[in-house]
Amino acid sequence: MASIESHDYDVLIIGAGGAGLRAAVEATARGCKTAIITKSLLGKAHTVMAEGGMAAAMGNVWEQDNWKVHFRDTMRGGKMLNNWRMAQIHAQEAPDRVLELESWGALFDRTPDGRILQRDFGGHRYARLAHVGDRTGLEMIRILQQKSVAEDIDVFSECTINQLLVNDSEINGAIGYWRETGELVQFRAKSVIMATGGLGRIWSVTSNSWEGTGDGHSLAMNAGAEMIDMEFVQFHPTGMVAPASVKGILVTEGVRGDGGTLRNSLGERFMFNYIPPMFASETADTEEEADRWYTDKENARRTPDLLPRDEVARAINSEVKAGRGSPSGGVYLDIASRRDTDYIKRRLPSMYHQFMELAGVDITKESMEVGPTAHYVMGGVRVDPESTATSVGGLYAAGEVAAGLHGSNRLGGNSLSDLLVFGKRAGEFAAERALAMEHSTLDKQQVDEAVARIAKPFESEGTENPYTVQSELRELMQSKVGIIRNKTDLESALGEILKLKDREANVGVSGTHSYNPGWHTALDLQHLLSMSEAITKAALERQESRGGHTRDDFPAPSDEFGKLNIVATLGDSGGVNIKRESLSEMPEELAELFKD
Ligand code: FUM
Repeated sequence: MASIESHDYDVLIIGAGGAGLRAAVEATARGCKTAIITKSLLGKAHTVMAEGGMAAAMGNVWEQDNWKVHFRDTMRGGKMLNNWRMAQIHAQEAPDRVLELESWGALFDRTPDGRILQRDFGGHRYARLAHVGDRTGLEMIRILQQKSVAEDIDVFSECTINQLLVNDSEINGAIGYWRETGELVQFRAKSVIMATGGLGRIWSVTSNSWEGTGDGHSLAMNAGAEMIDMEFVQFHPTGMVAPASVKGILVTEGVRGDGGTLRNSLGERFMFNYIPPMFASETADTEEEADRWYTDKENARRTPDLLPRDEVARAINSEVKAGRGSPSGGVYLDIASRRDTDYIKRRLPSMYHQFMELAGVDITKESMEVGPTAHYVMGGVRVDPESTATSVGGLYAAGEVAAGLHGSNRLGGNSLSDLLVFGKRAGEFAAERALAMEHSTLDKQQVDEAVARIAKPFESEGTENPYTVQSELRELMQSKVGIIRNKTDLESALGEILKLKDREANVGVSGTHSYNPGWHTALDLQHLLSMSEAITKAALERQESRGGHTRDDFPAPSDEFGKLNIVATLGDSGGVNIKRESLSEMPEELAELFKD
């Protein structure tokens, strides 16, 4: 233990995306010695892939907008499974968080009278996404990173945390390794904030980059935290489908928000055939009405191209299965015939370059080929809505790793505002706890066990290759735990996952500890496997279709499951235990908003 590099912090934040950085700024402002740990580089978080904007009812484009409408949209988008209090806090606080970001220097596109411009996105009643072109997540990270550096917050880059340390059922530190040298590093901390983002790398087609391996979900569950609703996974309707090397890369919903429409290989605007009853009264049912909406939003009904993401992803999946897909297995997204070149290049500069450089497609002249891509997990660590505290003392969670706000399906743009609202709250409450206590001593036995586990892939005689096991897992999850699920596939997937877990125990790596990607992959594999098990077991348990969980053997939502969270915890044998729990009831004054 003496030979391990050691640090002490009041507040330790794992993850340097929007939630982690916002939490760090808050904890520091409240007087805490704070550190951010990122396994990647500062400035390169998945947050930058939220391109289209951050949702906040500022009323700059539609003065009728207010937090109640945003709250209602978020709950309906999540098919009423959201934690209502988180949805309320989010809708109420998002405008202030956006204005605060602006006061720290963030640039936004502007209305003609100089206010922050807001764009349309799926499921939002009014144009509500504050944005800068299609680079909003990047701008958020730029500003928060600048602010963190200015506040002298310590940043440990390319450092992977592999285990949380627990003392008397309370978190008191973490242990991990420097990716570059392989040397170990341990932290004592009074509060730890998990802000590690998502787990899209579980699927073979994903918008997530290499970092999205579910580390935070898995570390929290291993430390005793409860997870909820892991079955709900968002397949963003529009990822690139060709060429194969870039399959899954995000095509922002902003393309449809700014006028783009979806068509099948017959040239039909197929979304008119997929309008669910819940959204029928406000959705246009003819092309004429849908097009009128782009010019007369006051009086026309919304285009079905902008239904919530779960609806659009399922519709695309059905069109492709019915043989009406594009040559590369997607559908067409057309903005070229609807907007002029200047408009497209100004509003969607990243999309223009992305398609030009990666696919040789000029989106000002041609349609894009797009299809669903694993993008976001709605499930995650259960948190207290006010404080973001988890069920383990001293552990907080914010952003994608935390569950509740988005219910069974997240509306686009609600992620960036989630990061700001709950990142700030995590920083605040973690700081309050830290300032009121002393450090406790790390448990030597726990540290020794963690060290042995981190080193195991080198010491094992194992013959399994970590890349092979990882790639088999990703293909399995893509084919059997994807957009459309059923009992037979889920049971078969679970059996395969358990076999892959056995094989993982037999993974071995060679070479040195310094920048050894095989070793890193072997360690990530444990997270990917335990989260795949949690997702698959939760998906088997939820016998209904809702949001980001569609069962073709239970195609409708059920009243019974509509009142339940599926809770996952670590079992004694290292597996995942599943149980059902009732949702908390919404107070009457909020329930009133849904009476119509
Ligand atoms: O489509 C997008 O720009 C993604 C945004 C989001 O996931 O919120």
